[in-house]
Amino acid sequence: MDSAHVGDDLVKVLYTEDQIQDRLREMAAQIDADYAGKDLLIVGVLKGAVMVMADLARSLTSHVEMDWMAVSSYGSGTQSSGVVRILKDLDADISDRHVLIVDEIIDTGLTLTWLTSNLASRNPASVEIATLLRKPEAQRMPVDVKYVGFDIPNEFVVGYGLDFKERYRNLRDIGTLAPHVYS
Ligand code: PRP
Repeated sequence: MDSAHVGDDLVKVLYTEDQIQDRLREMAAQIDADYAGKDLLIVGVLKGAVMVMADLARSLTSHVEMDWMAVSSYGSGTQSSGVVRILKDLDADISDRHVLIVDEIIDTGLTLTWLTSNLASRNPASVEIATLLRKPEAQRMPVDVKYVGFDIPNEFVVGYGLDFKERYRNLRDIGTLAPHVYS
């Protein structure tokens, strides 16, 4: 769906489908260069990262293996506690492998801080992070991110994998949700 299909649910479109694809191509070129000659496993964090994984992986010009994790953050409502439970673990053994975690957003940073340290404990050759979006003002944990698409304001954004109550994930653009939708 396009932003035209969600009526006045968005205050504004932050990034169009074309802008997202352009940025992902730039990130993919950097990843291709950095991992040239290396065997790379990219790990998508379900569910939000599905779109980024699909488009970033297809923008790469080298072979890449794809795996998935699903995690759930303990905490009430939108307040993340930093304690994470694994709902679906990797299929792959990552020892001695180069791992790139792919997510669509870093908000507080708690999820990826936990996930990076969890994967690092499995003796990979390296663990790095690629995220399409990052909210610097919302971050509670410093996260060492190698690839960032866009830094965005601390607003409620949806689309391109990002949801509100499981809706808007299939919106092609990324937009700021109007307060009347969530308040
Ligand atoms: C989102 C996103 C990150 C996490 C970031 O997932 O995919 O994994 O939140 O938030 P944090 O930096 O505050 O930890 P979410 O828990 O919304 O699940 P989803 O991907 O299934 O929508």
